Amino acid sequence: MNWGFVDRYAKSLIKEAGHKIRVSFFNQIHIDSKADANDLVTNIDQEIEQFFIKRIQADFPTHKIIGEEGFGDKVESIEGVVWILDPIDGTMNFIHQQRNFAISLGIYLDGVGMLGYIYDVVRDDFYHAKKDEGAYYNDERLPKLEKVAVNNAVIGVNARWVAPNRYIDHEKMIGLVLECRGTRSYGSAAIEIAYVASGRLDAYISMRLSPWDIAGGMVIANEVGAITTNLNGEPSHVLGQDSFIVARPRLHEDILKNYIRLIK
Ligand code: IPD
Ligand code: CA
Ligand code: CA
Repeated sequence: MNWGFVDRYAKSLIKEAGHKIRVSFFNQIHIDSKADANDLVTNIDQEIEQFFIKRIQADFPTHKIIGEEGFGDKVESIEGVVWILDPIDGTMNFIHQQRNFAISLGIYLDGVGMLGYIYDVVRDDFYHAKKDEGAYYNDERLPKLEKVAVNNAVIGVNARWVAPNRYIDHEKMIGLVLECRGTRSYGSAAIEIAYVASGRLDAYISMRLSPWDIAGGMVIANEVGAITTNLNGEPSHVLGQDSFIVARPRLHEDILKNYIRLIK
């Protein structure tokens, strides 16, 4: 596999899709809901996913594609080359704010992340990485992440996890919120992972994410030495929904050990 070629191809496809999304701001969009009233999807999510899939299928007919909106392949095994796409991560932000959303794409070989991309379309911020060749923010190489202690850390977490919920002990989470330097919530898992990779956040925690939310981000985060696991501390994968934490070394261990208690 010529990964350099795939990399250049994926980058130009993502930039073209980003342009299409920016143009969509001038047109009326159609909004629908999926699993529940706040699980939103628009015609743009669907059109962008179809745009990627048509191109990839035509140019890489042996590759498989997993897309959030379901236009891709029914992938039962992660063998071979698999493109894992979220055409718009942060659809609620796309609808309500017209910012703070991203295209997220990971390209995996036999389950191993080879290429990762997160494109913050409105800011024109492009995060990308190739396995073992480092991660980049636009053309700038991202440095390896240093360790940080909780009291110096800014943590990405949604406020709902400090309210009683069925996933984790919220009292412990309150402890983390009080002891860390500050918390932020951006509403796009992909952007939050990119922020950890680029040092703008020190950790990001979520109770339930899907492969397309994390596939691109994990490649980028791992290249700078961030640790990506579920909240049991097991390595994250792209095979189904799971809890998720990405953090600097040591902070990752500290959060899991002292602030997360899962409710069975
Ligand atoms: C969502 C966003 C959000 C996260 C949700 C995801 P979507 O993705 O990443 O930040 O909390 O779990 O489903 O639906 O906007 O692509
Ligand atoms: Ca998503
Ligand atoms: Ca999405």
